[in-house]
Amino acid sequence: MLKLIGFKKINISIFISGTGSNLKNLINHSFKKNSKFKVVLIISNNPKAKGLNYAKKFRIKKKIINYSNNKNAEKKILIELKKNKVNLICLAGFMKILSENFINNFKGRIINIHPSLLPKYKGLNTHQRAIKNKEKYSGCTVHYVNSKLDSGKIILQKKVRILKNDTFKSLSKKILKHEHVIYPKALKKVLFNL
Ligand code: GRF
Repeated sequence: MLKLIGFKKINISIFISGTGSNLKNLINHSFKKNSKFKVVLIISNNPKAKGLNYAKKFRIKKKIINYSNNKNAEKKILIELKKNKVNLICLAGFMKILSENFINNFKGRIINIHPSLLPKYKGLNTHQRAIKNKEKYSGCTVHYVNSKLDSGKIILQKKVRILKNDTFKSLSKKILKHEHVIYPKALKKVLFNL
């Protein structure tokens, strides 16, 4: 308890491209008593991302980044991160791949959530592929981001049973619920180790 006196919250930035349910969930967690982090910046490459509405709702700064040139886009993001004193990045449905140079600027301080049991099904369309391959289980994984796609060290994982009648929709819905449980837990773990 004593340790918490004078504790300064860790500033995080969340990167999105779409719905933003993980974003919303992490923001809600940041408001909890004893939360060790604050969401200070939302980054989106997509101006139409639904998740951007949470910026207004929760009064969090947002930045829409034009990705017509990756290098320039990353440069702009890095400036924003610095300006807002961001310590840690959480990717949550961000559909752009970060360059090695960018990642090196935030070594060990970028995490991502992926809807599969990594190392299985890296990349896109994870649920379709798992169903097509008649997998008995799928799940979700929170991992550190390194320069290889969906390959960084695993922080937390949740295994989810695939039922015979599961469709892409039912499975993604089921897994998303677990994502909302493991992402804040994984973040807590990461913050503890910072
Ligand atoms: C999630 O399934 C996440 O695992 C993947 O993209 C999806 C984002 O969903 N990386 P949302 O935008 O957080 O609702």
